[in-house]
Amino acid sequence: VLEQKDAVEAARCPHAASTAHSLDAIPGPTNWPLVGSLVELLRKGGLTRQHEALVDYHKKFGKIFRLKLGSFESVHIGAPCLLEALYRKEGSYPQRLEIKPWTAYRDLRDEAYGLLILEGKDWQRVRSAFQQKLMKPTEVVKLDRKINQVLVDFVGRIGKINVNGKIEDLYFELNKWSFETICLVLYDKRFGLLQEKVNEEAMNFITAVKTMMSTFGIMMVTPVELHKSLNTKTWQDHTAAWDRIFSTAKVYIDKKLKRNAIRAPDDLIGDILHHSCLSKKELYAAITELQIGGVETTANSMLWAIFNLSRNPGAQRKLLKEIREVVAPDQDPCGEHIKSMPYLKACLKESMRLSPSVPFTSRTLDKDTVLGDYAIPKGTVLMINSHALGSNEEYFDDGKQFKPERWLRENLTINPFAHVPFGIGKRMCIGRRLAELQLQLAMCWLVRDYEIVATDNEPLDVIHSGLLVPNRELPVAFIKR
Ligand code: HEM
Repeated sequence: VLEQKDAVEAARCPHAASTAHSLDAIPGPTNWPLVGSLVELLRKGGLTRQHEALVDYHKKFGKIFRLKLGSFESVHIGAPCLLEALYRKEGSYPQRLEIKPWTAYRDLRDEAYGLLILEGKDWQRVRSAFQQKLMKPTEVVKLDRKINQVLVDFVGRIGKINVNGKIEDLYFELNKWSFETICLVLYDKRFGLLQEKVNEEAMNFITAVKTMMSTFGIMMVTPVELHKSLNTKTWQDHTAAWDRIFSTAKVYIDKKLKRNAIRAPDDLIGDILHHSCLSKKELYAAITELQIGGVETTANSMLWAIFNLSRNPGAQRKLLKEIREVVAPDQDPCGEHIKSMPYLKACLKESMRLSPSVPFTSRTLDKDTVLGDYAIPKGTVLMINSHALGSNEEYFDDGKQFKPERWLRENLTINPFAHVPFGIGKRMCIGRRLAELQLQLAMCWLVRDYEIVATDNEPLDVIHSGLLVPNRELPVAFIKR
């Protein structure tokens, strides 16, 4: 929620002009016929380094630039005042870039669309069915028992599987933790992913999500229609993965609906299902997409929080002190405790600034819009770059350093539009509150039980693979306190 004071501050955009220039006047890198800047981007390290190239372009061209990759053209905005202008002018149904491989699958199988891909009034209808409860802190906090159920197993597993403090494939372990939590929240079902022997159904489910995620990227840059008509392996794997995801999700949603029919729902998702006017088909798609949206993003944010705490022992000590002051040794950390833990919240915020999971989101303009100096026509794709904003020294002093304290200063001068890891406006991440609670509780449990230490101090390279991920196993160890 935007504070009035911050809004006024943010509105003072030094880049606003009285007469707006056209789209063509927006600066940008070399635009060759057919390829645009593709060759230049490849020279800068390719798609896995695109987040760095985009930061460079912002440095070179300023707050706004235009980029053409092949036939795909977008305008990149990386200034809080431009984000605020966009937010203020946003219509009722903001649009993101279409994920064509997903819509193609749904059309093929006659399944509905969920929040990630819906547009217009249908998007708003489904969003409002979930929004009120899922975005309300007082509702989401009630999920702490479920989140903790999984955390008990996760922390226990860290104890069991570590060898001299090292965890093999920590990212996969975090993905299993996140998957298990979101499934418990959405379907009321434990899949047992944190047990020593994972059952086949759970493994198939998580593998299907992985396959679906790893096969859609290529069909975003090559025509999905072509994959479909040639029945390429990518298309076959993608559809088989969705088939598995939908068939599993449907079984558990049906069970939940059945339970709701015989007794009053006793949790947030049960409540939403019970009161919504959505059809079963719409519920299947919406719930499945909540799951898809929530698993890797949360695991990835936790991975970076662990990394940042390992490299900043001073901050970790301060965090441990806060945890010990608020949570008695014989108590489990819970949602109520988090309310009294400003340093914990600041640590998560700072980690998400310095190491955002989702580097950028997009908007397709549904009307002509003036942003700063430029009049941008309807239909233009805007890229909102939270990674470039978070690493910009103009908005964050000493921005390369992990300084949770920056969020706790009495006269907070940070522009709220400079920190947008969950996106902005009406279409912002609907799982934000849940993700924050899940991450804050996980940090509490982990730091209370383990000292997270850095096993080397070499720089860690970050690559873009949909999310921003480290290019090697995280150099951390967990030492039991
Ligand atoms: C959308 C980030 C966790 C479900 C988004 C967007 C971002 C994002 C950047 C795009 C917002 C925009 O375009 O303005 C994250 C991060 C997470 C996280 C960093 C974890 C730390 C979750 C969780 C769920 C979820 C736990 C499910 C419970 C969704 C959905 C959308 C979305 C359904 C689409 C919303 C819409 O278009 O109406 N998320 N997310 N996310 N996220 Fe998340």
